[in-house]
This record gives sequence, structure tokens and C-alpha cells, in this order.
Amino acid sequence: MKMWGGRFQAETDALMREFGDSIRFDRRLYRADVQGSIAYAGALARVGLISAEEREELTAGLEQVQAEFDAGTFQIEPGDEDIHTAVERRLGELVGPAAGRLHTGRSRNDQVATDLRLYLLDEINSLHKELVALQEAILQQAENHLGVVMPGYTHLQPAQPILFSHWLMAYFWKFQRDRERLANTARRTQVCPLGSGALAGNPFGLDRRALAADLGFDRVSENSVDGVSDRDFVVEFLAWAALTQVHLSGMAEDLILWSSREFGFVELDERYTTGSSLMPQKKNPDALELLRGKSGRIVGHLTGLLTTLKGLPLAYNKDLQEDKEGLFDSIDTLKLELAVAAGVVRTLQVNPDRMETALDAGLLATDLADHLVRQGVPFRESHHLAGLAVRRAEELGCDLRELDLAEYRAIHPAFDGEVYALLDIRRSVEARVSEGGTASTAVKAQIEQAYVNLSI
Ligand code: ARG
Repeated sequence: MKMWGGRFQAETDALMREFGDSIRFDRRLYRADVQGSIAYAGALARVGLISAEEREELTAGLEQVQAEFDAGTFQIEPGDEDIHTAVERRLGELVGPAAGRLHTGRSRNDQVATDLRLYLLDEINSLHKELVALQEAILQQAENHLGVVMPGYTHLQPAQPILFSHWLMAYFWKFQRDRERLANTARRTQVCPLGSGALAGNPFGLDRRALAADLGFDRVSENSVDGVSDRDFVVEFLAWAALTQVHLSGMAEDLILWSSREFGFVELDERYTTGSSLMPQKKNPDALELLRGKSGRIVGHLTGLLTTLKGLPLAYNKDLQEDKEGLFDSIDTLKLELAVAAGVVRTLQVNPDRMETALDAGLLATDLADHLVRQGVPFRESHHLAGLAVRRAEELGCDLRELDLAEYRAIHPAFDGEVYALLDIRRSVEARVSEGGTASTAVKAQIEQAYVNLSI
């Protein structure tokens, strides 16, 4: 018998059932659903709507339902529309009439909103740990390769020399902000809508605060109409996932380029690469390509839910059932991606020699301009003059270090013999000592700060 069958005479069309049922994807909410129901039975008992014995029966029955799901023995029946009806149906089979009292004053509308929050809070915890593990892998590699210098790029053109660790730590901070955003999302997910009923509130004087506290929520929703329709927390989570995904894809792209034979800055561990079925020499960066390629679906889930929510009238509408599949996929995908990304970083081989080969004196043109600035030449002028030196070296087919002093002095008399001392890659790196710069002292300080951030 359907839980809402009273006013109906006709059977639901079979296709309609297939179309409307959500059990095939929302069954994963079973723990949250059982947890919510156990707490709800407690709230009903507190106001005397069920007896202490009934509460115990319900609790024991619900625990049994959970055990069946845990063991994989739970049988989904044809009438089980969603996880809520399935749990209640089975509970009835297990405990009899008491099961019929559990739904008093409750609606699947406040129930599903509560379940989804409980479920997400749990998953946020796991994702938080995966993010930390990735940050640790980054930090470890940055520490292990502190001496290594590489060309830094802008517009993917060689720009200035930087420490490899400095590049890597840039991603540490992106993931740090992702971690902070995730914690913020958790705070707004910590709200309990249970007790909102279908939309109008609970008429039995339930103590919603005690109910929320039982479930580990920080607070209760302030408005029952909002409580059953609010999916902001899902949107926020999907936005978090999209941005974290964008960071992952950027890091993946850098590493794809650098592991190419043309760059050779890094080598990927064989555990994260695959071969070609046709070309025996190939070692393809599949892990990284997927970290880049999953962007479509993850960004898509965010725009998907925003589009579903746009223009929805209050309060619950069946459209809201569409909040789940994208959320679940984002959770599953990100969890796997973060673990794979940590593995790729952890096992990454760094080739300092190849990086060094890519470092030429052209990367020091800015240092040349800075030198003139120290002699009193305004930067706009010195930038132009250093550009002339680059051009002159190009004309003569030499690099900046090989350009005669006479050539420099012809460009500007402020150039002196010191230019050759400053045309040094290592010196250029070590000159950038300001906080956040690439000098080894600054990068070491950055790494120390990173350890502090990881521990809080
Ligand atoms: N399966 C539904 C969902 O996920 C549960 C809520 C159904 N509520 C209702 N009034 N039909 O949204």
C-alpha cells in the first residue's frame, strides 16, 4: 500500500513510476534517513505522541533496517518510491503498527532536506581529509626540492626564474582556500529543517532545538517554508566542487605540459600513466588528463542545479528531487580525483637538469631593468633600455651574458661591469626576498606558514 494512496483509485502508470522514483539513486541516504527517524521518534516521545516502549521498538527496528542496508541484504520492493518510503515500509514489516506513528507531523519534504544535509556533512568531512592529504603531498615535494630552479611562465612564455617549490606551493594555497570554503559550506549545512512539516510547521509542539541537537546540527531553520525548499547548501557545495575542480585541472595541465618530452621537467610515475594500444613508445598522462577532463561534468552539475532552482515557486516541488544525482556525482568524482591527484604529486619525479637547460639569460631582462632603476633611471625608461639590450643580443646571435660592455654602454651609460654579476639565474631568484616571493628564505617561510595552516 502506498503511503499516500488514500485519495487515489487508479494505479500509477508504470512509466510514471520509473520516471518519478528516486530509490535507485537516493538509497545511499539510508544512514541519514535512519538517523533522522531515530531522532524524530525521540522528539515524538518527548511530547507524548508515542510511548517510551514504542520509541524503543521504532529505534530497534530502524537499527535493523540500517543493518540490512549495511550488509547489502535490504530488499527494495516495487512500491519503494524513494529511500524514505522504503525505510518506512520495511520498518512496518519489522515492528508492526508502531511504524505507522513515526511519520506524525513529518513530511518527506522536511525529511529529505534533513537527510541530504546529514549526508553531505559526512561527505564534507571525508573530502576535507582528501584535500589535506593532497596539500601534504604538495608540501612534501616542495620541501624535498627546495633548491630546484625553473622558468616561471606568463602567457606560457618564459618569464622569470622561480623555484620549482614556489610554483608547487601556489597550488597549496589554492587548495587551502578550497578547504576554507568547504568549512564555510559545512557551517551553512549545519541547519536542521526537521520539524518544518510539509511547509507550514509542526502542530504538535515538537522541541525542534532538542531534535536538532540530537542530530548534531548547530541550529534549526528559522522558517518552515524556507526550510523545506532551501537547497543553497547544495549549490554552495557544487560551487566549491567546481572551483576545486578548476584548480585540479590547472595543476593537471601544468604537469601534462611539463611531463611532455619537449619539456621533460617532471616525469610521471608509471602507476598514473597508461600505454598506447598502437604506439609502443607512448606513456600517456591519463590520470592528469582525467583530472582536467572531469571539469565538464563538475561545472555542469553546478549550472544544472542553478537552472533547476531558477524560478521555482515555494515551497517543495518535485523538481527538487533533481538536486541529488549531480551532488552525488560531484562528491564521488571529487573524492576520487583528490586521492589520485595526491598520488600523482607524491610520486612525481623532478628533473632539475631539464629545468636548468630551459633557463636562459633572457629570463633576466627584468633584472637588467631593475639594475638601471637602482642607478636612478625611471622604470619605464629602464624597461625600454633592457628591451633594446635583448634586441641587440638577438641581432648578434648571443645571449645577454655574452653581450659586450661596449654594447651595453652604447644603450645607456648607467650600464657598468656589474651587469655580468647580476645576469645570474640564482641571484635573480634569491633577490626576491619579500614575503611571498621566490627567494629560498621566502619560500621556506611560506612552507612554515603552510604547516601552521595544515595543523588548524
Ligand atoms: N524523493 C523525494 C525527493 O528527493 C522526497 C520528497 C518527496 N516529497 C513529496 N512531497 N513528494 O525530493
